Amino acid sequence: MDTKPEINAVENSILDGSRFVRACLRKPVDRTPVWFLRQAGRYMQEYRDVRKHHTLVEICKQPDLAAEVTITAAEKLGVDAAIIFADLLLPLEPMGLDFEFLAGEGPVVHHPVRTAEDVKALRVDRAADLDYVAKAISKVAAHFKDRLGIIGFCGAPYTLASYMIEGGGSRNYIETKKLMYGNTSAWQSLLDKIVAVLTEYCLQQVQAGADVIQIFDSWVGSLSLSDYRQYAFEASKRLVRAVQAMGVPVIYFGVETAGLLNDMAGTGADVIGLDWHQPLDEGWRSVGYNHAVQGNLDPITLFAPVEILEQRVKEVLRAANGRPGHIFNLGHGIVPGTPVENVQAVVKMVREFRLQEASL
Ligand code: CP3
Repeated sequence: MDTKPEINAVENSILDGSRFVRACLRKPVDRTPVWFLRQAGRYMQEYRDVRKHHTLVEICKQPDLAAEVTITAAEKLGVDAAIIFADLLLPLEPMGLDFEFLAGEGPVVHHPVRTAEDVKALRVDRAADLDYVAKAISKVAAHFKDRLGIIGFCGAPYTLASYMIEGGGSRNYIETKKLMYGNTSAWQSLLDKIVAVLTEYCLQQVQAGADVIQIFDSWVGSLSLSDYRQYAFEASKRLVRAVQAMGVPVIYFGVETAGLLNDMAGTGADVIGLDWHQPLDEGWRSVGYNHAVQGNLDPITLFAPVEILEQRVKEVLRAANGRPGHIFNLGHGIVPGTPVENVQAVVKMVREFRLQEASL
């Protein structure tokens, strides 16, 4: 008898925010949950309006603004999850690396890490300085309560290390690989320091109300399978396990990962994010069905006529074939210039999709 209210609570919550969390755990859901990588960004007028008055980092550091941007995007799209507005590079600052975002060029780190001494100088004792992100998460959680899943995030050790070493985006990751191959103990020490800071950072986010943590290994596709195994896997796995021990599921995402998926799943992440290069069913087969998957519409499809867009959305949903553990998303982030109404149309398509009709 005592358990009845609890059962009701669970049943009710299937209909709201926990749809997304349940799918991360491969539990059955009433329909496929949907959200978008970079759902708050320059393609949206409301975000551009905020950006007229504040830099990207200012928005991140002011919890009221970061929460507002997060909430506005999620509500405007009608998605099942809200990802906190922040940036991958924020942990660089408390580690001792200054960076800025230059218009049209992306991020620039002023004194990139190149030597063992540079690694040694990095600090791991100031993760508490990042608590503005947790504060923003608390505000978003208070706003949505259980209506939406709340996603915290951080970069994966390899991707963050590559930014620290290259000093920004890179085509060939030459400096990163020079340190990785040429001074493996400095490389390992760098990854250890990153994992230490990120673990604390993720804990702040979970304690503030993040339901799920997504780890972005955006540039892991620059590694061969051998190099992933030798130089990146272990640190990612350590971070994944540390976050899971905090009691939340982990989504582990990378781009151009077709050859790495099975090993990425070996980190134990609950969900593997798939890029769009491969059909979703092939990606899921590589990942293994004991993991959920997230993806994987090509973000540039959002510029296509709506009939083509609908075909591609249905292709992704049909490839998932109703198997529990699919979260609909893009294969990478929404780009500037994307028509907002097409993003909203995709939400509607996913909400209304029924497997039987699709096969008619
Ligand atoms: O809605 C959301 O997705 C949350 C916001 C978010 C941002 N950055 C804000 C942002 C998220 C999840 C990120 C993660 C991030 N940041 C990643 C991983 C995701 C991915 O795309 O693979 C990476 C690689 C970064 C680093 C970064 N930040 C780059 C390379 C750039 C420049 C990109 C560009 O097109 O200029 C940024 C800037 C950035 N971070 C923007 C936003 C909305 C756009 C710039 C701006 O508003 O001035």
